[in-house]
Amino acid sequence: MIPKKGMIKVSDTFERIVHWCLAISCIVLMLSGLGMMFHSFNFLAIPVGGLKNLKLVHNFTGLIFIPSLFFAILVWWKEAAIFDVPDDIEWIKCAGGYLWHVENPPETGKYNPGQKAFFIAVAVFGIIMIISGLIMWFPLEFSASTVRVMFFLHALGFFVIFPFFFIHLYLGTIGVPGSFPAIMTGYVTRAWCEKQCPKWLREMEENGTLEVFGEEKPAAEHH
Ligand code: HEM
Repeated sequence: MIPKKGMIKVSDTFERIVHWCLAISCIVLMLSGLGMMFHSFNFLAIPVGGLKNLKLVHNFTGLIFIPSLFFAILVWWKEAAIFDVPDDIEWIKCAGGYLWHVENPPETGKYNPGQKAFFIAVAVFGIIMIISGLIMWFPLEFSASTVRVMFFLHALGFFVIFPFFFIHLYLGTIGVPGSFPAIMTGYVTRAWCEKQCPKWLREMEENGTLEVFGEEKPAAEHH
């Protein structure tokens, strides 16, 4: 997968490393958590040699999730947590044209409100998962009622992040064709940008910071 001339840079190497650390740790956590939570998913413990090991895998992957989420928030909060009023409100009213036909859905910046909702859910519930998970790891250090609330919050977080993940996975691959290269090479086509993030594209072009594959880096990048 090599970018073609004229493709547009939407993510840098650090951003992509952060995405994959977060994604892989999150997927391992969801699968190992599922394997511990439900009897019918206990078979997920077979490859690691039993439920005790699955818990070890889960807890230590959690330790990788912590810095991954920290950097993910640092990398994305500006573009994915701040709503652009009123355009984003208009976008929400018509679901961006994703659910029914909309003639001209409002233009979006780097991320649309659906993606922002996903980011916010991951950030907020991710922090809840970390805090509740750490307390559940050392239950004897806390009161029984505190630990019980943590079990509830941990399960709640799972039921929020898990379905969101499938929507994200679907849209990032087959739902919105051309998205996947954004987290592989960091480059997407101009046509994709014009459809997915037209306002961002225009702003980047106006202030001369757009990086195009095969063209010289914009002056703003040379310090
Ligand atoms: C194999 C599974 C995954 C695929 C194929 C995938 C795909 C993508 C793609 C293509 C983008 C860039 C979208 C764009 O710029 O328009 C993206 C961004 C992002 N991904 Fe993933 N991803 C996966 C797993 C995950 C997981 C498990 C998480 C978090 C727990 C995650 C969190 C994010 C976040 C927060 C962004 C920033 C923009 C947004 O909120 O949508 N991804 N992903």
